[in-house]
Amino acid sequence: MKIVTSIAKMQELARQFRGGGLTIGFVPTMGYLHDGHLELVRRARTECDVVVVSIFVNPTQFNSREDFEKYPRDVAADRAVLEHVGVDVLFTPEAGEVYADGAATTVKVSTLGDHLCGPVRPGHFDGVATIVAALFNMVMPDVAVFGEKDWQQLQIVRRMVRDLHMPVRIVGVATMRESDGLAMSSRNARLDDAEREIAPAIYRGLSAAVAAYRGGERSSAALIDRARRAIDATGAFRIEYLEVVDGEALVPVETANDGCVMAVAAFLGGVRLIDNVSLARPLAGAADIRIRGEEAQHA
Ligand code: PAF
Repeated sequence: MKIVTSIAKMQELARQFRGGGLTIGFVPTMGYLHDGHLELVRRARTECDVVVVSIFVNPTQFNSREDFEKYPRDVAADRAVLEHVGVDVLFTPEAGEVYADGAATTVKVSTLGDHLCGPVRPGHFDGVATIVAALFNMVMPDVAVFGEKDWQQLQIVRRMVRDLHMPVRIVGVATMRESDGLAMSSRNARLDDAEREIAPAIYRGLSAAVAAYRGGERSSAALIDRARRAIDATGAFRIEYLEVVDGEALVPVETANDGCVMAVAAFLGGVRLIDNVSLARPLAGAADIRIRGEEAQHA
């Protein structure tokens, strides 16, 4: 596995791959990798000849300096696991080079950030869109792979690529879950044992809503109520939002349809967890949940 830090070197390497007729699959990450990330890597491998993974904890998408500093980091472990799964290039640019002095450009995908995480994390998606656009210019991928767990992020990236005619195909990969349904996330590592036991209530809530939808319920209020009851039964969460939205426009709807997604953000202790499900998609039973493989290093 090549390790590249310089942006110019990454671009040169990308040109070499492309010049040699090889396609580039790209997985942008902020590190502290878990099996959810590795699933993205596996998918990139099936799509392209060469796989590039970036690790860059992007300061502009955090809402506070403290959050940015608290974000878990373990580049040595990440590097080992990426080597093990056969990644070709690990790209770890430096913040000082990514955001050169006087950097003044922001990519803003308007409206898609108006609901869900947008209002509670002002500027977050501008930071994400800007760094993803910049990383695309550095890595020059044919295909970029993102997890559906960050559904809003995925839709924003898709819209940016469409609107700016970027020559990249975006692939979304279904959320990887622990055997009890908890969506894999680097933040799970911050849950204590008691919280970790309670955390799957989020997925139970979403599953209850999907079951109700598949049973014919179409009122978003009723579906939200089903989910809320399961989450509130624990007495442990502070729900930040729980919404049924159009899966592409990300606007709340009163009457749900097959294109809708239920999305939630909730605090468990000091940890903010997010999750979502497509209402029309058959839910995995415990045995079908895509669970962690053996390469996982964290959480
Ligand atoms: O999903 C993430 O890890 C980040 O938002 C991303 C896409 C790597 C941009 O910093």
